[in-house]
Amino acid sequence: MENQAPLHRHFLHYSELPASMRVLYTAAMLILGMAYLFAGIYLFHTYAGKDGDAKSLSYDDLVVAYSGSGKGSKLETALSSAMSDMLPAADRDAIVAWVRKGADPVEHGKTIKPLIEANCLECHDGKSNPHLTNLSTYESMKAVLDRDTGAEIFTLVRVSHIHLFGVTFIFFLMGLIFGHAYVRPVWLKCTLMAAPFACIATDISSWYMVKVFHPFAYLTMAAGGLMALCFTTMWFIAMYQLWIGKTPAVVMERRGVVDTLVG
Ligand code: HEC
Repeated sequence: MENQAPLHRHFLHYSELPASMRVLYTAAMLILGMAYLFAGIYLFHTYAGKDGDAKSLSYDDLVVAYSGSGKGSKLETALSSAMSDMLPAADRDAIVAWVRKGADPVEHGKTIKPLIEANCLECHDGKSNPHLTNLSTYESMKAVLDRDTGAEIFTLVRVSHIHLFGVTFIFFLMGLIFGHAYVRPVWLKCTLMAAPFACIATDISSWYMVKVFHPFAYLTMAAGGLMALCFTTMWFIAMYQLWIGKTPAVVMERRGVVDTLVG
């Protein structure tokens, strides 16, 4: 496994770092690991139910999230997924039937408004949570009556910039820490460090492309998966070499050389 190429003179293995740095690296990685887990849970909860099946995160979930179900309105999509438990089935069917028949405003006043008032306004009153569509009047409801075309471009732009900044931070930090690991061949180490940056660029671009061509959802999944794989690999190698593994012989030998030079 180990080759004979000398270590770069700027390379320091974890075992050559002061205890304080090793503690800092470990603490940062524990929290980063936790953050990644929570991000995973959040991702699952946000997207798994998009296609009406909340048990798994699938290709269809991503297509519906980014390009819309293309079938019904946003209201219909919501009522058959995340919002389905908010009201009795009979009420749900009545609302869906009304939307499908063209969402008549007069009919809204007679039968639909009371159902919405009873089941939805607790959250969708435009005040308690300003991010949710206000469902209190026919006019304000219109936004969710149009055909479902998925996440709006501007929403994607907002989420994109947050992710690009955030992920760069995470993997820059991770890379700085992982840089002290002894991994050969060197190209593999460099690939593990660089791939997440390529993944986030691919992942984010693919959100927009799914809107145009659905199979790009596979690219979204592959990029997300590869990023998680790189994270996990770097995390475990770093933790192992920090606290469990023996100092590699190559590193030990150099220490001998430095000691004789100094001593
Ligand atoms: C307990 C609070 C709550 C209640 C009650 C509730 N919702 Fe929601 N609703 C939410 C939240 C939170 C979201 C955003 C989360 C998501 O998209 O999964 C949301 C999202 C939606 C969306 C899509 C996003 C948007 O705001 O346009 C629609 C449409 C919707 N709800 C309709 C309804 C309808 C119809 C009812 C009544 C049958 C209802 N909701 C009851 C909390 C609620």
